[in-house]
Order: sequence, then structure tokens, then C-alpha cells
Amino acid sequence: MIKRIGSRSRKLLILTEFLPTLRDSFIARAGANALPNLTRNFAMAEKATQKKHKFTFGLWTVGNPGRDPFGEPTRAPLSPPKIADMLGDVGAYGVNFHDNDLIPIDATEQQAADIKRDFKKAIKDNGLVVPMATTNLFGDPVFKDGAFTSNNAKVRAYAIQKTMRAMDLGAEFGAKIYVFWGGREGVETDAAKNPVDAIKRFREAIDFLCDYSIEQGFGYKFAFEAKPNEPRGHIYFAVTGSYLALIPTLKHPEMCGVNPEVAHEHMAGLNFVHQVAAAIEMKKLFHIDLNDQEFGRYDQDFRFGSANLKHAFFLVKLLEDHKYAGPLHFDAHAYRQSDYEDVKEFARGSIRTYQLLSDKAAKWNADKEIQALLREINHEDNLLSKLTKSYSTGNAKKLLAADLDRKVLANYRLPYERLDQLTMEIIMGVR
Ligand code: NOJ
Ligand code: MG
Ligand code: MG
Repeated sequence: MIKRIGSRSRKLLILTEFLPTLRDSFIARAGANALPNLTRNFAMAEKATQKKHKFTFGLWTVGNPGRDPFGEPTRAPLSPPKIADMLGDVGAYGVNFHDNDLIPIDATEQQAADIKRDFKKAIKDNGLVVPMATTNLFGDPVFKDGAFTSNNAKVRAYAIQKTMRAMDLGAEFGAKIYVFWGGREGVETDAAKNPVDAIKRFREAIDFLCDYSIEQGFGYKFAFEAKPNEPRGHIYFAVTGSYLALIPTLKHPEMCGVNPEVAHEHMAGLNFVHQVAAAIEMKKLFHIDLNDQEFGRYDQDFRFGSANLKHAFFLVKLLEDHKYAGPLHFDAHAYRQSDYEDVKEFARGSIRTYQLLSDKAAKWNADKEIQALLREINHEDNLLSKLTKSYSTGNAKKLLAADLDRKVLANYRLPYERLDQLTMEIIMGVR
């Protein structure tokens, strides 16, 4: 498809489908001197093609230095302004952070002020926004046994205090979504903590922080992110459904929702699409973490779509069909082997995979044979649906008298093999 992209200085005609290839061949021909300008022009063009979606990355994602539990970093650390430059180059919409991704935990007031000034300039120069902020309640040894659920009242108070300060910081950058990932809220042995108390403590902390946000006029929406394990042996609120069940018991359920992450539900062996569907149906999908993960493995945080493409396709289709308009946050990191340029490819690849799957979802919806199959497998019966929609003595009576022959019903055709094969052919790009 050909699109006309307007800019102040000139008009760029681009083939959106082939933008990455075009970019590479332009850069190869123009040589090193022209690189900064070309990169910037293509980033603008890429951004224009992406305006439909709000693609975001965390400072901790593209900034991940390649450390793992067994090995030291493989990449040089990147400062927050340098990360903003990279995200500007790949055409991202926004950048998110934990308090200590931006301001080191021991920074002086002057250091913090300097860091904030430089980062504000960098995000402005790169046309980025900060839609989401969060607190690091897992890295420092003080949280070795949890934050809001710690057995020590002083640690719990410190965790709430640290979050209030981090909320101030997020608000200063315009964040409207506040993520809560309780990485250390758990146990290795249930001898250590009463799991019922843990729920109560967590609820108390959230209720307190909701009121803080309301009183400060921050306008935050809270988004809870579940994970079953890692770094704890067992983490409380193991899956998105756990938080969906907690929310109605909170003091301000209207400002609380979820931030499901692909890898976290896959670690629990669950169908992520179904978890997200539950959140959408309950109007609680406030944010989403896109990445990938082989089932049954350690926490991998792979590039979106790189391990389970079929699941990724159905996820994108779900989000697009239901017009999810919030940030699409890539909570992943490049392979440990990648250098700076390859980390950029990781970021571009994340965006491109989402866009390609979004095109494929539209193709699926427009496919005549698929639509005919959907009509064939969905049997509507207005009279019966009216009966079962809501209970009344009369409806119950009529339903008991209805002629529903199970042998006839069992014979309905469900050509799911054909439907699935057509889906696979769309994903594989041959249809
Ligand atoms: C780090 C976790 O690995 C990630 O999944 C989470 O989204 C962020 N922290 C936010 O707290
Ligand atoms: Mg996450
Ligand atoms: Mg994760």
C-alpha cells in the first residue's frame, strides 16, 4: 500500500510494507555521513505508519545489559537519554520506567534533578511520551522477603512510601497508568508467611495508594501484573485471574485493572488469549506486556511473537477486534548475544511483528471462506436464546418442555480442521 507522509521540510512517499528494507538499502547507499539524518527521516516515516498503535518500551527492556543469573552483562549500560534516542530512532510512541531505572536508589537531590532535566529533554527531542510508570519493589535487598506483603511492618511501610515517591515521579512525566508487579510478594516455603495475611496486606497497601493518587489528583489507573514464580519460588496472585478476583474487593475498584504479560501466563501453562479476553470482558485491560516465552522454561522475555506465533496472532486479533487502544508495551529484551545495533533490530522487530499480525488479523476477518465457515458453525436460535437469556418461572417451564434431541444436536458439522488450516495459511503468508 502506498501512503503519503507529510513533514514540514518535505513529502516522503513510502511503501509502508517495505519500509525496513528500504531504510536499509538507503543507508547502505548513502554512507556513514548521511546516517543520522536518514535514520531520523525513516523514524518519522515509521512513526507515521504506526500512529494507529501506541508501541512502548521500558527503560529496562532495550536497556537490558544482558545479565542473567549465571553470567555478567554482555552489553554496556545505556543512559536513559541514550535509550530515548534509540526509541526515537525505531519510531516508538513512548517509554516507561521503574523509579530506579531513571533515578538510582541512592541518588542525591541534585543528581535526581539533573537526571530528570536530561531525560525530559531527550524524550521531547525524540517525540516520546511516558504513558506508564512503576516502582522497583524487588531489586534492593530490603525487599528480599516481599514489599507490601513483607512480614516486617517497617518494610511494608517503606514499600508504600517508596511507591508514593515513585508515583510523584511518574506523574511529573505525565504517566497515567501505574503498574504493580509484585515480583517479591511470595514465598519459597509456606512456613514463612500466612498467605491469607499476604492478601490482606496487599489490599491494604493498594487501598492506601489509591487514596494517595486521588488526593494528589494524579488521575492514575492502577494495573496489576501477575506472575506465578521467579524470582520467588511461589508468587502471590499467580495469574491475571487472581487480580481480576481481587479488584472487586478493593476500596476503589473503578481505578484498578490488570496488566497481563504473555510470558507470565505461559510460564503458568495458561492460554494467554483467554486471560486477556477475561480482562477485556470485565473492562479491566488497562495495559498489556507483550513478549514471548517457551512453555515450561525459565522466564525468557523473548521478542514478541518469536516463540509462539499462533498464540501471538490470536492475541493481536483479540486486541484489534475489541479495539484495545491502550499502550502496547514490549516487556522483553534482546538476546544476550546482541550488540547495540541488534538491540535496535529487536525493538523494530517487536513493532513489525505486531503490525504484520494486525494485517493478518484483518485478512482473517475479510476472508470469505473463513466467514462462511464461521456462519456454518454458529447456529443461532432466537426463540431459545430469548428463553435462556434470563430466568423466570415461565421461561424455565418452556425450556423444560423444549424439544432438544441430543442425537440430532451431536451431528452438527464443525469443520474446525479446515478453519484452523486456513488460519495457519494466513499466518504463513500463503493466503
Ligand atoms: C520487571 C518485570 O520483569 C516485568 O515483567 C514487569 O512488567 C516490570 N518489572 C514492571 O514492574
Ligand atoms: Mg511485565
Ligand atoms: Mg516478565
